[in-house]
Amino acid sequence: MSDKAQLIVEGKTYEFPTIEGTEKEKAIDINTLRDTTGYITIDSGYKNTGATKSAITFLDGEEGILRYRGYSIEELAEKATFLEVAYLLIYGELPTQAEYEAFEHKIRIHTMVNEDMRRIFDGFPVNAHPMGVLSSLVSAMSAFYPDSYDEKAPDSTELHIIRLLAKLPTIATWSFKKSQGHPVNYPKNELDYCSNFLHMMFALPVEDYKVDPVVSKALNKLLILHADHEQNCSTSTVRLVGSSKANIYSSISAGICALWGPLHGGANQEVIEMLEDIKADGGDVAKYVDMAKNAKTSGFRLFGFGHRVYKNFDPRAKIIKKAADDVLAKLGVNDPVLEIAKGLEEAALHDPYFVSRRLYPNVDFYSGIIYRALGIPTNMFTVMFAIGRLPGWIAQWKEMRTNKEPIGRPRQIYTGATPRDFVPMNER
Ligand code: CMC
Repeated sequence: MSDKAQLIVEGKTYEFPTIEGTEKEKAIDINTLRDTTGYITIDSGYKNTGATKSAITFLDGEEGILRYRGYSIEELAEKATFLEVAYLLIYGELPTQAEYEAFEHKIRIHTMVNEDMRRIFDGFPVNAHPMGVLSSLVSAMSAFYPDSYDEKAPDSTELHIIRLLAKLPTIATWSFKKSQGHPVNYPKNELDYCSNFLHMMFALPVEDYKVDPVVSKALNKLLILHADHEQNCSTSTVRLVGSSKANIYSSISAGICALWGPLHGGANQEVIEMLEDIKADGGDVAKYVDMAKNAKTSGFRLFGFGHRVYKNFDPRAKIIKKAADDVLAKLGVNDPVLEIAKGLEEAALHDPYFVSRRLYPNVDFYSGIIYRALGIPTNMFTVMFAIGRLPGWIAQWKEMRTNKEPIGRPRQIYTGATPRDFVPMNER
């Protein structure tokens, strides 16, 4: 690798250092670009911009590789628990037995949520989207833990991290309970993380609820697959908001809002709705592939397809596709949209439009089918993504703070009006 990059601007040559990551990714360090040349760069959508150096997650979109702290996603999804992965992401190493037990215990004893938060929740309409509710309540948590934004208070970041991990599933289940007209369930702290979530979602006061191990195992896998994905839209949002020294609750709340969008985490809800539409329309997969190819006129995109970084199979999609087959078989669920999804994938993978643009199924393509088999309603799919992504957001927020990164503040090229005189209203 060359250790210098040259740039010629207005006939003058400038040199910039290059840097290389541990996986041989290369970058040109343009920190001094504007000061030395007077120019900035324009990179819409940040397609070529490295916003930070990070030691958390590595992904190679050309090869379809994803690793958390050096461990392959395939191995973690097979062998680890979600909390083990959360620990790995946040603290950098897999926990020892003692570290794991201490971490899990702290999370267990913080699962309850202040009753005043419930009163805030009660004010939301019954049909409020659970993502809007989740983001509002996470932001509201800062009001209950004001030391999170008090610069003079002793640092209690570690406790806020535990609280977020412990309480997010509790809060998440409230929206579902309300939509059903059922009372909310308090957490049951003898249960593990995934089983506790399922209990809060599905238990009723009138009968016993036993967590099905097939369901909790599937949930564990899905949460691990979503746990981090380096500098994606929501994670960049968390880092950007946190870079202004905003507290961790506000930063995570902002990440939840970014995740909600249909081009990001909201795609999992869109996928199922799209598959349902195709089914209702007679299951003609080719018709929808054609519509997607004419996205510019039809305005239709194949949700769950394509990725900013993966130009090969999303490794998470491969794992989820297999898990969808396993879980549906184990639960004895026959969901016709699974066949439609497979047909769509097959058709798209052989179509020159998708092949030439290297559009493959992404993590959201099959995840909704599993969530549905687990009994999770469509409007909660992105909430499940948020619960999974939480450790990643936390790890990235913490790394940004530990590395004392400067406030994020991009520049622009102004294209508006040049100076002009104010015109009084009666003369306009
Ligand atoms: N269906 C049809 N055409 C597509 C699709 C799609 N899903 N995705 C991209 N294209 C086309 C796009 O029209 C463009 O074509 P052309 O070169 O002729 O203009 C080309 O492929 C490149 O697309 P792009 O929008 O410039 O690519 P991007 O990197 O800006 O967008 C994306 C990435 C994920 C937003 C996009 O692929 C998309 O909208 N996919 C559907 C939404 C989705 O599934 N999102 C979940 C992403 S994975 C979970 C997560 O981490 O958020």
